[in-house]
Amino acid sequence: MRNLNADNITAAVVEEFSGCEDERLKTILNSLVSHLHSFLREIEPSQSEWTTAIEFLTKTGQMCDDQRQEFILLSDTLGVTMLVDALNHQTSDPMVSESTVLGPFYVANPPKVDQGGAIDWNVEGEPLYVEGRVHDGAGDPLVNVVIDVWQSDSEGFYDVQKELDSASLRARFSTDEQGRYAFWTVTPAPYPIPTDGPVGKMLELTGRHPYRPAHVHFMLMAEGYETLVTQVFAEGDPYLDSDAVFGVKDSLVREFQLMPSGQAPDGRNMSGPYRHFKYDFGLKAS
Ligand code: BEZ
Ligand code: FE
Repeated sequence: MRNLNADNITAAVVEEFSGCEDERLKTILNSLVSHLHSFLREIEPSQSEWTTAIEFLTKTGQMCDDQRQEFILLSDTLGVTMLVDALNHQTSDPMVSESTVLGPFYVANPPKVDQGGAIDWNVEGEPLYVEGRVHDGAGDPLVNVVIDVWQSDSEGFYDVQKELDSASLRARFSTDEQGRYAFWTVTPAPYPIPTDGPVGKMLELTGRHPYRPAHVHFMLMAEGYETLVTQVFAEGDPYLDSDAVFGVKDSLVREFQLMPSGQAPDGRNMSGPYRHFKYDFGLKAS
């Protein structure tokens, strides 16, 4: 293993992993080394470009703590998160809902709210009524499915970004005997992903915008079914075709229909206009 050059160093590194007893790990590392070396042979980085790359990754790591995960943001903006999602959750079954990116603003164990309750604590905005059903692959209702929802406010901020004392615009629901869920909230706005770190710099240098179209996040959990992590996007949003993290799928877009004042679907009397969407989720048996 001496006098290695651009032609034989890849084989030498791969050979060094030949004693790895974990076959899966060996496969992954062999492939990583082969692809990484091919990439470098293709782009032929200068020494200073390589230093810049190392500095970029160093800053990405330094930006991470238990509140901020810049590596996930990097994965999101390079389409890696959605590629991993596609490889693991691709479905052609119309009875199973599609998944999309989790994002950094999920908080486990949000406050429990009864069916039809409101989650717009400490925020103002255009009222939005969300309702739907959860069913299995045969279309039969699923009872007691745990549904976590979270979203931005009408200005595009999540509660965790505003350092509120308590949760807002996030909650946990449970489906009833007919598989139904429903809640009142405010209409979310499109928002930029965090741009104050190296990922934001990358977007700026490459002329990319940081916006995500307005959406409501859902995580559905039920015994015997794959956990579904997804979002419902607002039809007509200007960023549907240029989501900074590549997460939009046609099946996840719904009109957030503008409704006149009067009686809402749950019987509530609305003194002004509000929005409404319905979304039925199908879960895949695990
Ligand atoms: C989000 O939708 O909350 C999100 C997803 C990926 C990156 C940043 C934010
Ligand atoms: Fe989001």
